[in-house]
Amino acid sequence: MAINWFPGHMVKTKREIKENLKLVDAVVEIRDARIVKSSKNPDIDELCAGKPRIILLNKSDLTDAKITKAWKKYLTNENTTVIEVNALKGEGLKNIKPALLSLLKEKHDRLKAKGLVKITTRVMVVGIPNVGKSTFINKMAKNNIAKTGDRPGVTKSKQWIKTSIGIELMDTPGVLWPKFEDDTVALNLAFTGAIKDEIMDTEELALNLVARLQETNPELLMKRYKLTELKEEPIDNLDAIARKRGALISGGQIDYNRIAAILLDEFRGGKIGNISLEEPPNIEEV
Ligand code: G4P
Repeated sequence: MAINWFPGHMVKTKREIKENLKLVDAVVEIRDARIVKSSKNPDIDELCAGKPRIILLNKSDLTDAKITKAWKKYLTNENTTVIEVNALKGEGLKNIKPALLSLLKEKHDRLKAKGLVKITTRVMVVGIPNVGKSTFINKMAKNNIAKTGDRPGVTKSKQWIKTSIGIELMDTPGVLWPKFEDDTVALNLAFTGAIKDEIMDTEELALNLVARLQETNPELLMKRYKLTELKEEPIDNLDAIARKRGALISGGQIDYNRIAAILLDEFRGGKIGNISLEEPPNIEEV
């Protein structure tokens, strides 16, 4: 399926991130826990090399808990802490400060030895569109977004967002795009709403979603739409779902536009079930 999505180029954003990284102690990288691989910016490792990192697996309320746990294990290393969160409800966010303190312990010990008493931790929040950056920042700031104004060296009008727990956040300067060239990645991004529906053929997208779910989560699909069986052809299953939902036009024809909207909306809202679209390689170990 062709998804016409033009990312623009990232040279400027990457340069600005590099410049601003000098001003922060650590990076908080947000990913969509449903598509941990597809929601990764391809340049992020290189860009943030050497900086302590926290990866937030956001929207974990929508995923298969076992798979999210496996991703956590897979991505954790001595320089990276992985935390499952639900930024919308604020779940898991309390684990961020202790994780930062632990990652930055040596640095903080050095500062304390020099006599510094009050240490503020500055972090840059990065992530591709739709992973929940704004939701996260707002929740952390709890509506206390304080404009601390421009500081020397901070690119253009970047502002620090103060939180009440001694952490200052900087939003990504510019937009970080995912690696969308790959068909599966593009579909994953589209299924989860990271690519806006307006620029896609939603009917084809919904058909692709049925094709995917009948392979990976057939029981959930059957249960949600009260289907007694699944046919081999995704179109037959989409038609059956449409009939169950009464998405029909006069003459009993399927209203594909309507059923596509229903299906995508219900999937994105977690109504079909807790579904992770990607698994890490170590899933069997967890
Ligand atoms: P961004 O700044 O990274 O682009 O993401 P943003 O915070 O705008 O969040 C994108 C969508 O994801 C929003 O949905 C937001 O409510 C939702 N979201 C963020 N965190 C969570 C979470 O932990 N769990 C769930 N279930 N949803 C979350 P939206 O307002 O409906 O926007 P849209 O999808 O219509 O654009």
